[in-house]
Amino acid sequence: MAKTVWILNGPNLNLLGRRQPEIYGRETLADVEAACRVLGEGLGLEVRLFQSNHEGAIVEEIHAAREAAHGIVINAGAYTHTSIAILDALNAFAGPVIEVHISNVHRREAFRHHSYIALRADGVIAGLGTEGYAAALRRMATLLA
Ligand code: DQA
Repeated sequence: MAKTVWILNGPNLNLLGRRQPEIYGRETLADVEAACRVLGEGLGLEVRLFQSNHEGAIVEEIHAAREAAHGIVINAGAYTHTSIAILDALNAFAGPVIEVHISNVHRREAFRHHSYIALRADGVIAGLGTEGYAAALRRMATLLA
């Protein structure tokens, strides 16, 4: 039976492809979703993508994942660097968690170097562009096998 992986995206990632393309590239979130679905099929994973600009909505989605998802891939955007609430929600989720950043946050401003989510994540991917989501799914397939 296919394992379910939720790919959660935080604020401003709805603008992917149009927002600072020199940093985040030209692929849209819909492109990422389509690519992840195809890859997921090959890996035996059922993939569902979610995006919200609201911290509480992301927290509630993680709560829903407790019953519905085997693993979580999360790019929390700027909430990565600020949100203890998202960290607490992830700590209440039993399955594997992989943190993704499209850009190499460590080469950017100092405030992007700290991640609350990294305190919970089983793996962290940064700087691979949108390919980071595919890398996260491949790792998720291993962790859920
Ligand atoms: C990001 C990096 C964050 O610092 C930033 O706030 C984002 C996107 C990334 O994917 O590189 O919104 O998570």
